[in-house]
Amino acid sequence: MYYEPLTQDHGLRHTPLKALVFPRPIGWISTVNAQGQPNLAPYSFFNLVSDAPAMVEFCSSGEKDSLRNCEATGEFVANLVSARQTQQMNASSTALPSEVNEFEFAGLQAVASQSVKAPRVDGAPASLECKVHDIIELPSSQPGRRNAMVLGLVTGVYIDDTYIKDGMVDQAAMTLLARCGYRDYAKIERVFELGRPDD
Ligand SMILES: Cc1cc2nc3c(=O)[nH]c(=O)nc-3n(C[C@H](O)[C@H](O)[C@H](O)COP(=O)(O)O)c2cc1C
Repeated sequence: MYYEPLTQDHGLRHTPLKALVFPRPIGWISTVNAQGQPNLAPYSFFNLVSDAPAMVEFCSSGEKDSLRNCEATGEFVANLVSARQTQQMNASSTALPSEVNEFEFAGLQAVASQSVKAPRVDGAPASLECKVHDIIELPSSQPGRRNAMVLGLVTGVYIDDTYIKDGMVDQAAMTLLARCGYRDYAKIERVFELGRPDD
């Protein structure tokens, strides 16, 4: 099959795109608002986009608290999600009034970050503390609905020491959760090594 998404319907039950571009890492984005109230939500339109300097992005489909807090404070933390925290991650995606603290709602502890005011998630295998570098307005297919990409410069990297073995991150041990299409997720339990041809 073939379709042109700007002008044609795919004819399937759901848009196939998120079942094609996967697995997507989940950035569990913690922020605070201007009054210091913490907020937490998962974003799978998330990735590391540069490593020198380290930069990450997440995209907000609509104007959500995470985006508003990034605009208000210029800071966020992208926590990585272990499959061990699947239920808490999912609970934190519930649409709640802005004044509800998703850390408390999902039964999570907030731990103070070192380079930003937004806290990190206790139990997350790693957390990237970020200063907002730019907020890029993307085209939106729904008139009046923002579609915005938050680009962050990583100012602090926390790694749970449990996952450091022989000077390397034990990736399989972190059992990161990844987002697939539909209601599906993947657990990254095994990785394999492949050298570059010119290594
Ligand atoms: C695994 C997962 C990934 C998600 N990814 C995104 C995303 O990339 N962009 C988005 O706008 N919403 C995404 N959502 C939905 C938000 O988490 C949800 O709208 C949340 O209530 C936003 O919270 P906030 O208003 O506190 O930022 C995702 C939800 C889940 C469960």
